[in-house]
Amino acid sequence: METAATIKEVRAQIKEWKRQGLSIGLVPTMGYLHEGHGSLMKRAREECDRVVVSIFVNPLQFGINEDFDRYPRDLQADAVLCRAEGVDLIFHPEAEEMYQEGFCSFVDMDGLTGELCGKSRPNHFRGVCTVVSKLFHIVTPDKAFFGQKDAQQLAVIRRMARDLDMDVEIVGCPIIREEDGLAKSSRNTYLNPEERRAALILSQTIRLGRQMVEEGMTDAKALVAAMKENIAREPLAKIDYVEAVSMDTIEKVDRIEGAVLVAMAVYIGKTRLIDNFIAQA
Ligand code: PAJ
Repeated sequence: METAATIKEVRAQIKEWKRQGLSIGLVPTMGYLHEGHGSLMKRAREECDRVVVSIFVNPLQFGINEDFDRYPRDLQADAVLCRAEGVDLIFHPEAEEMYQEGFCSFVDMDGLTGELCGKSRPNHFRGVCTVVSKLFHIVTPDKAFFGQKDAQQLAVIRRMARDLDMDVEIVGCPIIREEDGLAKSSRNTYLNPEERRAALILSQTIRLGRQMVEEGMTDAKALVAAMKENIAREPLAKIDYVEAVSMDTIEKVDRIEGAVLVAMAVYIGKTRLIDNFIAQA
């Protein structure tokens, strides 16, 4: 497994692989890797000849009062996980390598970002789209792998690739959870034991919502209200949003018809966690 810190090194390696006719899979991450990231690498390993993992805590996608400075970082442990998953190349640039002095070009999106995380984190998706399109230009992957855990991000990236004719197949992968149901996340490390217990309210509410849809609930407002009510029972939880939106446009829906994304962001103490499910009715 190789590790590269510069765009130049990555380009040289990719050029060589392309010369050999090998297909390339990219797994973009911010590091502090867990089994959720590992599942994307496994899928990439299955579907591509060479697997590149980028590890970059992208300053552009964090708001001023968010956790950029304290976002967990552990490159050594990340390298161990990547090696175990059969990754061929880790791209781990410094911020100066990605954003040269005077950097002022961005990829932004008018649609799909008005609800959910786009609403509570203005400019977040501008930062995500910009860094992911840079990574696509640097690595030129045949396929890129993203988790359904960040469902809005996955929809945004799919749309960006379609709208801007990016020659890459976007592959969505299922949410990986802890045994007790909590969706795996690098941010789970912020939780103290009491908060860790309280955080179960997210996955428990996802199960409740899924069950209500299975039992025939089609009124999106009533579904969201019941889910909010359930979260309110946990004293350490503070709701950022619970919403039912169209999978494709990320616009609010009144009825659960076709594929609807039911997504939530909830603060447990100071830690903001997200979870979601796709309602098929
Ligand atoms: P990060 O939060 O590190 O996540 C990297 C990828 O792992 C994302 O596609 C995310 O959806 C996926 N992932 C995280 N937890 C998961 C879980 N429990 N199950 C399945 N997949 C999971 O998302 C980002 O980084 C950044 O925004 C990035 C795309 C790298 C751009 O900076």
